[in-house]
Amino acid sequence: MTLVEDTATKDNAKSAAGETLSIHGGRPLHGRVEVKGAKNLVTKAMVASLLGEAPSVLRDVPDISDVAVVRSLLEVHGVRVEEGDEPGSLRLDPRDVQSAHMEEIDAHAGASRIPILFCGPLLHQLGQAFIPDLGGCRIGDRPIDFHLDALRKFGAVVEKLPSGIRLSAPRGLRGASIHLPYPSVGATEQVLLTAVRARGVTELRNAAIEPEIMDLIAVLQKMGAIISYEPNRVILIEGVERLDGYDHRAIFDRNEAASWASAALATDGEIFVGGAKQQEMLTFLNVLRKVGGSFDIREDGILFRRGGDLRPVTVETDVHPGFMTDWQQPLIVALTQATGQSTVHETVYENRFGFAEALVKMGADITVYPHGLQGGPRRVPRRSLEQAAVINGPTALTGADITVPDLRGGYSHVIAALTADGTSTVRNVGILSRGYEKFFDKLTALGADFDVVG
Ligand code: EPZ
Repeated sequence: MTLVEDTATKDNAKSAAGETLSIHGGRPLHGRVEVKGAKNLVTKAMVASLLGEAPSVLRDVPDISDVAVVRSLLEVHGVRVEEGDEPGSLRLDPRDVQSAHMEEIDAHAGASRIPILFCGPLLHQLGQAFIPDLGGCRIGDRPIDFHLDALRKFGAVVEKLPSGIRLSAPRGLRGASIHLPYPSVGATEQVLLTAVRARGVTELRNAAIEPEIMDLIAVLQKMGAIISYEPNRVILIEGVERLDGYDHRAIFDRNEAASWASAALATDGEIFVGGAKQQEMLTFLNVLRKVGGSFDIREDGILFRRGGDLRPVTVETDVHPGFMTDWQQPLIVALTQATGQSTVHETVYENRFGFAEALVKMGADITVYPHGLQGGPRRVPRRSLEQAAVINGPTALTGADITVPDLRGGYSHVIAALTADGTSTVRNVGILSRGYEKFFDKLTALGADFDVVG
């Protein structure tokens, strides 16, 4: 099967569907929402199905556009994807996997970064792959150098094209010794998805160990992979000849759970998040308690509410088990209502406070330090790209006309509008459908007062 070259110029406009909300704020959110499988596991487990010689079933799949993008990318490669034997499940049959036209791949890649994870599986199955330039949120330049370095170590040949990269594996893929410069989630997944069927053993050092990574390892082990998780971020993978399918219920989305918890704090409401579990949220729950939030851990979820006046905190984002970078945007909205000065050190991405601009427009007192803050005891060793935000509160927020910049920042814009007095116009909220299933329904269930106006 040959890869059909496409010379068409690439239209990079991968904008999300713009939608505009008119939000009438100042009312606490009360009620129950359910979180499904984690966006940042489900999309990867779908790619993993490509590696199997038999169909797989994935359960608790959220109805979000990132899943739709991966589904269509799998389908253009001949994978049959259909609804599974229960609501929210997918059956993925890779037995007729085939090359796809570059144009088709590009057309379906959307604003996602997941296509880069197709490299290993397609190289194993077809001996070649084309990956279009990546999309994803603008929260830094989001390089893929760790991914490409790892693939070359496995024996892949990487060729840069005007519209993406083409890979081949003339002598197949063999196990490698890889030491990541940073515990990158994506690069760890890249190595896992390539090593499981490479000839020989792969040693991965300085690996990411997020709960979603461990769940992906569980998925691969179900398929027949041999992966051992050693001390000190070392993962050993013994390549095997063939893999079967899997039947897996995805880990819950702790980022969405943390978002709703922050919304309960910011609006002084009470939200039960069905499906949330304590283990994967320990660090978040500690910070929530320090801020003055309270939570009840139940069998079927976690109840979040404000436990009294909100207090300021100093938080440093970090890789797991530290405070997730994805948790700081919603938390900062609650910190605008805390009495005193809070500081958030962002150590994972170099541009993850863009959303703060809109909060300042609404009346928040937030100062962003693009080069971080010197001094003071730091748990996290400073990275060259570190940034910091200082939040003074409490400040009254008033409605404004704001535009959503990215997924997690956009969620914070909506919470801020719900916290503010008066009406806000929040534009480009379509981007939220990438990561929050039935977002408008959930807001309605929590008593939010808003209209979809565009
Ligand atoms: C994943 O992104 C998540 N996305 C992100 O969630 C999450 O914030 C991030 O992990 C950290 O936990 C998905 O899983 C789809 P990284 P990823 O590779 O894999 C640098 C959300 O909203 N880096 O761990 O892209 C990179 O620039 C999203 O759900 C390189 O330098 O994150 C960043 O500074 C936002 N070279 C740092 O490492 C590389 O080749 C961490 O990135 C790869 C990464």
